[in-house]
Amino acid sequence: MPNILKNASLKPFNTFGLEAKAKLLVAIKSIDEAIKLTHDEAFKANEKMVLGGGSNLLLTKDFDGLVIKNEIKGIKIIKETETDIYLKVGGGEIWHEFVLFCVTNNYCGLENLSLIPGTVGAAPMQNIGAYGVEIKDVFEELEALNWETQKLERFDNSQCQFGYRESIFKHSHKGKYLICNVTFKLSKKPKLKMEYGAIRETLALNGVKEPSIKDISDAVIAIRQSKLPDPAEIGNSGSFFKNPVITKKLFAKIKDQYDSVPSYPIDESNVKVPAGWLIEQAGWKGYRQGEIGVHQKQALVLVNYGDGIGKDIENLAYKIINSVQEKFGVQLQPEVNII
Ligand code: EPU
Repeated sequence: MPNILKNASLKPFNTFGLEAKAKLLVAIKSIDEAIKLTHDEAFKANEKMVLGGGSNLLLTKDFDGLVIKNEIKGIKIIKETETDIYLKVGGGEIWHEFVLFCVTNNYCGLENLSLIPGTVGAAPMQNIGAYGVEIKDVFEELEALNWETQKLERFDNSQCQFGYRESIFKHSHKGKYLICNVTFKLSKKPKLKMEYGAIRETLALNGVKEPSIKDISDAVIAIRQSKLPDPAEIGNSGSFFKNPVITKKLFAKIKDQYDSVPSYPIDESNVKVPAGWLIEQAGWKGYRQGEIGVHQKQALVLVNYGDGIGKDIENLAYKIINSVQEKFGVQLQPEVNII
């Protein structure tokens, strides 16, 4: 039976670096251990929260329940064709380490998702995405343990109901499953995605003419490092808000006043506007209030400079939401899970 710790600090397990205690904490290293855990009284009697890399989490209070840390490891080749390779990966693997494994072996598909904090099991939960790629583009299937039936269930791409930072595991299946492993279909023949402007610019800057998978990964790492704070130095959880989708009518109104407002097309009647731009225009970029604030180089990222408190970050987030609502009539939504 895995060892259950009492009154455990969650500070090392969330990238905001916030102090909060879990009444109970357990690390799971295999599917068998997870099934055994379901028979334990501590499991039956408590509210549960599964933790991956803690990179999409804002802890505003102690958690009065059982925190289950997914540490299921392993990378296995399960199928290979002339053109593709199928890798089955433990949910507890560190995302970026797995991406580097793929880059080193010339498996193409995940290089644009380099340096995203978090774990493999947490990645499909919110369909992580960056620089023109989302996990759903290379996702084959996942196996998840249903806490209630104690059975492993398979979810293919459509069953996960992926959307922009969305999946079924954030909605009807929230809190009901442990994502044990994820299978990716990667290409052995590089099909590089460089549409995202900054990638081309960075490659040109590095003098790269015929980019390899590694060149793309290196470019993405350089772009992220130039804009996003490293959680090892300044606590943060990446984009705090989602980029809002607004009507073209509202967009036209904003563009009347701010000709340079960036946007991404969505459909006939809607566009997506970068939340970072809206927050910067509302005057929040670089804002600091004691130990917490808004990152200086990317207004989408809220930061903890050291001894910040989760509740203060939550309050700051609501102030930002209100001010953007007042200025632009746009409702921002947090991307992170607030506990
Ligand atoms: N912008 C500003 N001010 C800012 C930040 C951004 O004006 O403070 C403007 C930029 O100039 C640019 C536009 O907003 O015109 C978009 O900015 P950026 O390319 O930095 O991307 P983003 O929309 O802010 C999204 C994802 C990131 C992902 C990048 C790259 C969301 C919520 N965020 O950010 O994801 O890395 O695109 O693909 O969709 C994450 O989810 O944690 C994350 C970092």
